[in-house]
Amino acid sequence: MAGSRSTNYVDSDDCLLEYSYLFSPDLLRGKVAFITGGGSGIGFRIAEIFMRHGCNVAIGSRNTSRVEIAAKKLVQVTGGRCLSLCMDVRHVDEVSSAVEETVASLGLIDILVNNAAGNFLCPASSLSSKGFRTVMEIDTLGTFNTTKAVYERCFKARGGIVVNLTATLGLRGQVMQVHAGCAKAAIDAMTRHLAVEWGPDAVRVNSLAPGPIEETEGMRRLGGSWARSAGLFQKLPLGRAGSKLDVAHAALFLASPAADYITGITLLVDGGSWLTTPNAFPDILPSAKL
Ligand code: HXC
Ligand code: NAP
Repeated sequence: MAGSRSTNYVDSDDCLLEYSYLFSPDLLRGKVAFITGGGSGIGFRIAEIFMRHGCNVAIGSRNTSRVEIAAKKLVQVTGGRCLSLCMDVRHVDEVSSAVEETVASLGLIDILVNNAAGNFLCPASSLSSKGFRTVMEIDTLGTFNTTKAVYERCFKARGGIVVNLTATLGLRGQVMQVHAGCAKAAIDAMTRHLAVEWGPDAVRVNSLAPGPIEETEGMRRLGGSWARSAGLFQKLPLGRAGSKLDVAHAALFLASPAADYITGITLLVDGGSWLTTPNAFPDILPSAKL
């Protein structure tokens, strides 16, 4: 089996109990990262791994206590600096204030991770216009708002790195996910457009598309426990669901000088999942009704 469950899986927004370095511990020494949705799930693990590699990090989301608690845990375990910010990526003024606060507290931003997202399973026939728009606004518009604010304040003059969390949903199409698939596909397009437009400013822009990642809100909402009990993950090419650490290491790579000549791509971190996973109703959630 390629990879193992072991201690890479932690079923809460807590730091890893133990960590073995795969990259140089100084890989992001002295850098500043801004991570939306960094108080939970994949975003939390990315913040932890960046901090373990010397990066100072700002994490922002709507729930103040969530990001405050997360920041305390991250500082305690890594010894780095972590700023918690209350912001909604849909509101340009809140994003701008959060970026200003980060610059004032940690210095100019070097790395932006657009991780905030909203999703739920819903057949297209039951999905309201507002439901579709809400996911587009959080995922796509939120990514644009944050990227633009960080570019204008920090990247335009000195370059920078953007990592956008997307998904493989839109590659083939998937039931009950038209809203998320469209939102993530639009972000992948944004990645390519901005990579071209801002390459001359030394800005690299890439997408990172996770597959099914254990112990996340995304998996909880999208039928993960059913998929696990039905043994679907063993049938994936790499024989397991991913860990938050798998995604964090890929984000670390994209944010590091090891990826200096990579821009405009979507890096799939899915164990080959999109190639083989059933994507038709009722394979995903047998109890759901169209
Ligand atoms: C149908 C729904 C719905 C549901 C909300 N809506 N939940 N429709 N089924 N389960 C509709 C509402 O009815 C409403 O439309 C509209 O969406 C807005 O709902 P609000 O609750 O007012 O929105 P808001 O408070 O902004 O909350 C956003 C949210 C919420 C996305 C709905 O779930 C959220 O905050 N999520 C953040 C956390 C999250 O989703 N994490 C998972 C990310 S995983 P009407 O017309 O009724 O007023 C992920 C994985 C991607 O992204 C790919 C995986 C493979
Ligand atoms: P998660 O824990 O729910 O993370 C989403 C984060 O976004 C939360 O911390 C949430 O915090 C924040 N957020 C939501 N709406 C926001 C808004 N309007 N403004 C600011 N912050 C907002 O989910 P996850 O499963 O770790 O997913 C992380 C990323 O990976 C997402 O982009 C997701 O699409 C992608 N992904 C996940 C999987 C998976 O298997 N889990 C698969 C493919 C892609 P608040 O509620 O405090 O705002």
